[in-house]
Amino acid sequence: MFDLTGKTALVTGSTQGIGFEIASILAKQGAKVFVAGAKSMEKCINASKKIPNSIPVRVDLLQIDDIDRLYEVTGDIDILVLNASIQYKKTWNAFSVKEFDDQMNCNVKSSYFLIKKYATGMINKGWGRIVTIGSVNQYNQHPQLSLYGVSKAAQMKMVENFAPILAPFGITINNVAPGAINTPRNKECLKDAAIKKKVEDCIPCGYIGDPKDVAPAVLLLCSNEGRYITGAEIKVDGGMSL
Ligand SMILES: NC(=O)c1ccc[n+]([C@@H]2O[C@H](COP(=O)([O-])OP(=O)(O)OC[C@H]3O[C@@H](n4cnc5c(N)ncnc54)[C@H](OP(=O)(O)O)[C@@H]3O)[C@@H](O)[C@H]2O)c1
Repeated sequence: MFDLTGKTALVTGSTQGIGFEIASILAKQGAKVFVAGAKSMEKCINASKKIPNSIPVRVDLLQIDDIDRLYEVTGDIDILVLNASIQYKKTWNAFSVKEFDDQMNCNVKSSYFLIKKYATGMINKGWGRIVTIGSVNQYNQHPQLSLYGVSKAAQMKMVENFAPILAPFGITINNVAPGAINTPRNKECLKDAAIKKKVEDCIPCGYIGDPKDVAPAVLLLCSNEGRYITGAEIKVDGGMSL
């Protein structure tokens, strides 16, 4: 079950956090995985060293031209996981033009151009899996994450719009929407016991999730067993969005 032998996957933002666990579980199931990050090749190499059968690749998704360079390294792939994102925490009217653009470019524009770039190869093979990583903020209203929520909701709409177009070619596209998960992104914030308690109080399960809680949902959607799921979403949030 969930055997990915012979498949090639690209997981954006897999140098740490949720992306790292997704890359690890796909590799464990037999896929060759490209481990990608933006900051430095060294960071990508260090993450890749911890994942057998993986290849490090650096791509800055704020530079759309980087996607062509990325494709030259990876060639066609079978599984595309769009996990990298930028999250600015600001009140709704405090965003600069650059901050607005960065958040939308990384979270929405790059998703579109990555799908566009890699879908052709999947269409030719008659098999493909695309998973976007959304957020509980598609649903919940957080005073400092309004634009981030907008970007994730836009990405979900992309999933719903593209699913019927890609389905006849054996390609599924789905979204996994995590709630509060313990990753480097949240580390500083969750050190504050009062903030941590406030977050936990919003989660029916009562605790903050681990990246390992998110990865299996992505694996299901990337597998042959998940072939009949498309245009859908799996919330992995301990009930936080309810
Ligand atoms: N953690 C949560 O509570 C939570 C909740 C809901 C949704 N999510 C979503 O889950 C996904 C992973 O979150 P996370 O908490 O694991 O994130 P994270 O710890 O902040 O890691 C972000 C990853 O994205 C990469 N990245 C950042 N900017 C990039 C850019 N411009 N181009 C390419 N890659 C870039 C980073 O690579 P480098 O550092 O190497 O540059 C890193 O690997 C995101 O889509 C996030 O929105 C997270």
